[in-house]
Amino acid sequence: MSAATRTIAAEARTGGDSPAVPRHIGIIMDGNGRWAAARGLPRALGHKAGAEASRRAIEAAGDMGVSWLTLFAFSSENWRRPADEVRDLTGLMRHYLRHEVGQLLEKGVRLRIIGDRAAFGPETVAEITRAEAVTAANTRLNLNVALSYGGRAEIAAAARAIAARVASGELDPASVNESTLSAHLDTAGMPDPDLIIRTSGEQRLSNFLLWQSAYAELVFQDVLWPDFDAVHLQAAVAEYRRRDRRYGARTG
Ligand code: FPP
Repeated sequence: MSAATRTIAAEARTGGDSPAVPRHIGIIMDGNGRWAAARGLPRALGHKAGAEASRRAIEAAGDMGVSWLTLFAFSSENWRRPADEVRDLTGLMRHYLRHEVGQLLEKGVRLRIIGDRAAFGPETVAEITRAEAVTAANTRLNLNVALSYGGRAEIAAAARAIAARVASGELDPASVNESTLSAHLDTAGMPDPDLIIRTSGEQRLSNFLLWQSAYAELVFQDVLWPDFDAVHLQAAVAEYRRRDRRYGARTG
């Protein structure tokens, strides 16, 4: 742990209205392809380097005292990429699910997958279920990996589930409120993200945690994801701490 990380983690423990460290950070990991192209490498190697950057981000988030980290690893739109790239990406995910769970255990990380896991087929669904079960007792860092995830699809699925409960008479339509909707999302029971980071200079949410990010601070960084490390995470948290979070209220 670096001295800067130690300082931020120590300050986080002092608590207060505006915690020094966000409780939940979401990251849109962007720029693997451009990183590879800049080096004359195939895109697959960009994704492989991106996976290593994910490992660094998980470690840095744990060291800083972040409780929840959500990584956008594969969007519902990513299925439209060329078949060989989809194969490389899904192969990489399977590799990590199979071989990296020990690392997560060592670091006290609890893994959950959000998104349409069934789209990856029964074998991968079984690997996901296993990895989630094996890490279920860990409490140091909650890691969500968003796979075949889309915010609009997640909200539509929640609406469908609520409609079904209303139709069956189990739920009174007049009682449906924001909490009902939140409770039917993949992130039910989890805190909303305080900070969303997107790398590579692009400045949009791209269907990531649309409902949950209503009051999140957005930080866009000019680093390609494979180059991301603890220093970038610390810089994003420092920027978050400079923001004045009002949740729509007027202060002063
Ligand atoms: C965006 O780069 C990144 C992705 C589509 C996938 C992200 C996947 C990883 C970082 C690897 C797997 C992660 C885990 C947790 C195992 P891009 O290809 O859109 O880059 P470009 O915009 O430069 O083309």
